[in-house]
Amino acid sequence: MNETQDRGQWNNKLGFLMAVVGSAVGLGNIWRYPYLLYKDGGGAFLLPYFVAIITAGIPLVLLEYGFGHKFRGSAPLSYTRANRKFEWIGWVPAFASMVILSYYCVILSWAFNYLVKSFNFGWTSNPNDYFFGEFLKLSDGPFDFSHFNWSIVIGIVIIWTINWYYTYRGVSSGIEKVNRFLMPTLVVIMIIIVIRGVTLEGATAGLNALFTPQFDKLTNIRVWLDAYGQVFFSLSLAMGALITYSSYLPRKTDLNNSAFITAFANCGFEFLSAIGVFGILGYMATQQGVPIDDVVTQSVGLAFVAFPQVLLLMGPFWGKLMGVLFFTSLIFAGITSSLSLIETFTSSFIDKTGAERKKVATIAGLIGLATSLMYATGAGLYLLDIIDHYINAYVIVSLGMVEAILIGWVVGASKMREHSNAISYIRIGSWWEIMIKFVTPAVLGLMLVLSVIDEIQKGYEGYPTAALLVFGVLMVATLLVLGIIMRSRPWHNPETVKYSGFEHDYYKLEQKL
Ligand code: ALA
Repeated sequence: MNETQDRGQWNNKLGFLMAVVGSAVGLGNIWRYPYLLYKDGGGAFLLPYFVAIITAGIPLVLLEYGFGHKFRGSAPLSYTRANRKFEWIGWVPAFASMVILSYYCVILSWAFNYLVKSFNFGWTSNPNDYFFGEFLKLSDGPFDFSHFNWSIVIGIVIIWTINWYYTYRGVSSGIEKVNRFLMPTLVVIMIIIVIRGVTLEGATAGLNALFTPQFDKLTNIRVWLDAYGQVFFSLSLAMGALITYSSYLPRKTDLNNSAFITAFANCGFEFLSAIGVFGILGYMATQQGVPIDDVVTQSVGLAFVAFPQVLLLMGPFWGKLMGVLFFTSLIFAGITSSLSLIETFTSSFIDKTGAERKKVATIAGLIGLATSLMYATGAGLYLLDIIDHYINAYVIVSLGMVEAILIGWVVGASKMREHSNAISYIRIGSWWEIMIKFVTPAVLGLMLVLSVIDEIQKGYEGYPTAALLVFGVLMVATLLVLGIIMRSRPWHNPETVKYSGFEHDYYKLEQKL
């Protein structure tokens, strides 16, 4: 069997880099980072942010690249090859990525609708009422599924069709090709947004507010947790995506250098977005004669309420043009991230069942489409909020911690370091082993404990406990059960799992494949 041909391989390193940076740069960079930077101490936030990148971000990117490359498999296959008992852990990110996708694609559907609306300012003169009322038709609570927004359904179908098509085409002629186009275009669009943003009247007020350091905030533990959460989500860590993508790398490839490039490119894009967003918010505050605090908001509020408001202020030409650019940037950034998540799921099933990619991609697309539809109801925003919270606060953080412990202690951090260093120009030192074995698990463990305490004390955003139990706790439990069920199923070819990077000479074995 020629495994490489069966599983797919990147055409070259640039293609891989575009795809991994595409996975990293997403909604998290454009709408979450600017807000966190502002809220959590401005320039002072850069300290926890870089500490998080150095102590968890870069070490885990290096780990996931090395792991996927060494064991050459999707998350479940790589874990199984490392140790049979770990298979179920590899299935959790495979299913979690589908859960993330189910709502991620809905946000992209909103962005698609707003892109169309940009041509005629279709969000009326009151974007807030329009978004929550007319557009989302927000119902009374998470169990009230009344109303169905057909324009959101159309957007969901379009986004899932794009996802399906490029996954169906495969690694080099689908995912790589589209990333090679979308990523450079996204950077150009963002640069235009930033240039326009910082040349608007009042932009400096926004930038001053963004970067003025408030060092007193650094004593608040939440600020540090936010930094870690952001780095995790933004680098697509523990979602299985980086393991999957690096499994498509050829034998000789500079893993360490790719990991640093990914982290720095993602960071750079985050700064770019923050500067653009705050330049524009500064303009809005100046025009309305209000303090910057009054206009700053995050995620949904930023993209679908504050931005439409600013666009109205900019007048027909610049307003419409910036609207088209901004929503296009959200869609491009989101598509490249969602492709990495659907690939995590698809590759897991291809490896396990031996089924054809086209078939698995089509089934994955249909499942994804069906699950996304529940967010097109009036309860959509509530569900999205709850599910996103549980995935980020618990699933991803636990997976990152388990990953660091298992790979660091059981598989062996030193063996992983040897593997990556053997093929990389930049050699990573023993600091990396200390991070993976001690620092990263400790920090992530602390995050988990604090999140649980916070949740027990305060609940989450005032949602009824029943909703948190059903859409949060039950969803997390289902992921674990699915992992265990999949582990009990046989591999289509028992030989597949025998390949082990540690027991065999890796390169000799590969020549035999
Ligand atoms: N890394 C992706 C994002 O930031 C998931 O949106």
